[in-house]
Amino acid sequence: MPNWLKDAVFYEIYPQTFKDTNNDGIGDINGIIEKLDYVKSLGCNAIWINPCYDSPFKDAGYDVRDYKKVAPRYGTNEDLYRLFGEAHNRGIHVLLDLVPGHTSEEHAWFLESKKAERNEYSDRYVWTNAAFQGIGGHPYIGGEAERDGCYMLNFFKCQPALNYGFLNRTEDWQKAPDDPECIATREAMKDVMRFWLDHGCDGFRVDMADSLVKEDDENKSATGSIWKNIREMLDKDYPEAALVSEWSNPHQALKSGFHADFYLDHHGNGYNTLIRDNETPGGDHSFLKKDGDGDIFRFLDDYLPKYDGTKDYGYISFITCNHDTPRPRRTLSYHELKIAFAMFLTLPGVPFIYYGDEIGMRYLDIPTKEGGFARTGSRTPMQWDDSKNHGFSDCNPDTLYLPQDPAEDAPTVAAQEKDPDSLLNEVKALVTLRHKYPDLQADGSFEVLFAEKNSFPFIYRRGMLMVAINPSEKEASVSLIDNDHYEDLAKVSDEYHYDNSDIVHCIGKCDVTQTKITLGPQSFAVIKLD
Ligand code: NOJ
Repeated sequence: MPNWLKDAVFYEIYPQTFKDTNNDGIGDINGIIEKLDYVKSLGCNAIWINPCYDSPFKDAGYDVRDYKKVAPRYGTNEDLYRLFGEAHNRGIHVLLDLVPGHTSEEHAWFLESKKAERNEYSDRYVWTNAAFQGIGGHPYIGGEAERDGCYMLNFFKCQPALNYGFLNRTEDWQKAPDDPECIATREAMKDVMRFWLDHGCDGFRVDMADSLVKEDDENKSATGSIWKNIREMLDKDYPEAALVSEWSNPHQALKSGFHADFYLDHHGNGYNTLIRDNETPGGDHSFLKKDGDGDIFRFLDDYLPKYDGTKDYGYISFITCNHDTPRPRRTLSYHELKIAFAMFLTLPGVPFIYYGDEIGMRYLDIPTKEGGFARTGSRTPMQWDDSKNHGFSDCNPDTLYLPQDPAEDAPTVAAQEKDPDSLLNEVKALVTLRHKYPDLQADGSFEVLFAEKNSFPFIYRRGMLMVAINPSEKEASVSLIDNDHYEDLAKVSDEYHYDNSDIVHCIGKCDVTQTKITLGPQSFAVIKLD
């Protein structure tokens, strides 16, 4: 396990819209370098940059045309190497985005693979034996190549699936995962990883990490074997490099060698029940909404078994949102966001803040760009200040990559830096708190002390700290004694001493005595036990 992950707080940067330095309306690597001091001022000590490689950008760069070349619109490889150095000088680690499941249809490997004559890349992608023979259960394209065959897609039409084989095979064109051609695909991906690691990158966020071997078993064990093999390479040659998966199944991902796995807003996951309850009929009952119904068990029932079953293997990563999901500001007010950040930043694992969420940037209802569709609204230019284009770029506003939030009260970094009560300053304080107390960091223990449906606060223990959250609009209190159902809570009051002077962080109104915790409306407290 890379040691630095234990206290890592990540900042996700979507390069298109973070900071433009050459005024072409689109962000660039030099813009990221320029803003590293800002990232540091947040307390973030790691960044994840979405794909910044050469690409036709039909899926925002997740359609890679050349894995080893920075997209000219973002700069040069030298700029990226410089970014690694500048980040390291500030104690910031850098993850790139690895897209191992597919390439662009314009990648040189695919252009070779399409040829009628057999060559080194003929089996680099998944092909059937005839243009009229499709692929049951998977998307595919026929009739587009000289080659007599259909090829499988891994996501959009522009993203042919790389060939890692099929575990359960029913057709003669399906290769076994240990076929030399499939091993060659894995080795090619390792070569890409080595290239960037040798130039100073600190690891990868891995796109669709579970998508490699097709017709895998229900535990995805064949895909897992590939990641175990890759992890062996890292442990041997790059022991401080981190691997974070887009898998959203920590049992599978962390046991396959990933150091951390995202807790995404997939169907059935607890994430939506906290901030964006769009699965329950009859309105938004999210736990973190002030008028939600406050059933924390909808989150805990999903999260706790995952946490308990994987904490010895790696970390679960909470996100504020990401480039694929609606911004949390879509459903939460500034104050609700403060409480949401407070919870995300005091849970175990490695947290990720999506650029702009720290100031509560809005989700905009705008037309699609580069295959974004509904995701586009979360990808708008960062709002730095009140100057032209909110300080993102000096370009003509018509040439901006995406429109900016037109609202009069669009949040900006500059305004919130000046306001002691702002979301930005709260986020900074919470990140500082996390760095100060190892108990709050990735490895610190996590134990639920008080959780009850329709009742607040929700209380959990992180090592020698007790965290209490009342997201509701009403004051709430819990007795710490005579609480038959909550032995661990009673034990805390038997064994430790605390009062208001032990509150090390508070949002809203908090009153703590040896026997009772009272939290005002929409409040949060961290209490030191000694
Ligand atoms: C997940 C990425 O986060 C998303 O943006 C992309 O479109 C798909 N994978 C395909 O690579």
